[in-house]
Amino acid sequence: MGCAEENPEEKPKCNPFGTRFLTDDAKVFEHNAWDDVEWSEEQQEEAKRIVENQQSMKVDEEKAMRLLSAPADQWDAFYAHNENRFFKDRNWLLKEFPELDVNEACNSENVTVKILEVGCGVGNTTFPLMQVNNSSSRLFLHSCDYAPNAIRVLKSQEAYDPEKMNAFVWDITQPTPEEAPAPESLDYIVCIYVLSAIHPDKIRKALSNLMSLLKPGGTLLLKDYGRYDLTQLRFKKDRLIEGNLYCRGDGTLVYFFEMEELEALLGEFKMKKKVMHVDRRLIVNRAKQVKMYRQWIQGKFLKPVEL
Ligand SMILES: C[S@@+](CC[C@H](N)C(=O)[O-])C[C@H]1O[C@@H](n2cnc3c(N)ncnc32)[C@H](O)[C@@H]1O
Repeated sequence: MGCAEENPEEKPKCNPFGTRFLTDDAKVFEHNAWDDVEWSEEQQEEAKRIVENQQSMKVDEEKAMRLLSAPADQWDAFYAHNENRFFKDRNWLLKEFPELDVNEACNSENVTVKILEVGCGVGNTTFPLMQVNNSSSRLFLHSCDYAPNAIRVLKSQEAYDPEKMNAFVWDITQPTPEEAPAPESLDYIVCIYVLSAIHPDKIRKALSNLMSLLKPGGTLLLKDYGRYDLTQLRFKKDRLIEGNLYCRGDGTLVYFFEMEELEALLGEFKMKKKVMHVDRRLIVNRAKQVKMYRQWIQGKFLKPVEL
């Protein structure tokens, strides 16, 4: 099991990562997906070997320097080209992060719940979140991304409501801009596939910036790529930059985390783990009889009231 629980009270009532478990290998092609799949030792070794082999086909240094010097440019070009046609809405969000349905909190406590979504892109998390909390007039949702084209597309959507939303351009590795929420004002910070887009040398600066905006007692919710995810193992020539950092074909960066590594990083900022889980899923292409092993890390971290 990849689940590392510290506080049993945080355990969800039903398993948000699914309950279709593969107990008989002979039946693997009977369904499209299996949940919480254990990796054998041979499989782990094979993954390690693939990543070691990638060392001999790294991106050339000049290209790596160019991509690392202005990573926002690649994402900005991506959104200029794709607009809102690439990412799907993150409709699983409430299943994994039920706390983001803030209706109840608003009604019972008469408070405004303030959320910052980081690396929001064109709003695939922002809009589903607003939709589920539509009746709640006391949710305020800040959304930021360092790609100006992403923010332009997000703000041009009909559902963008400036009374309840504030989308702004911010590279979270840089000082907070004027439009950012006030220090220690946020109840939640949501990071979906964004920490993996940041160079490991800059991740501490990014986390320090984010943590300064979170209220004592506020929560960081994250979901990201795990080490040896299928996408990491499939990278061929000219993709590995260094360590576990790669560039995709479009030049955007992606890092693959170990769960313990992320936990230790957040620990440096005194963030207290509520829940962390490696979501290991086996996706099956039944027609082609192909197995695809995905690994995502999900975590919830509390900023203690007293540091
Ligand atoms: C893989 S996409 C995920 C988009 C969105 N969270 C989703 O799940 O659809 C990563 C996003 O993070 C943004 N991003 C990467 N590094 C960033 C940084 N340092 N500051 C702000 N945004 C960043 C990118 O522009 C991109 O929109």
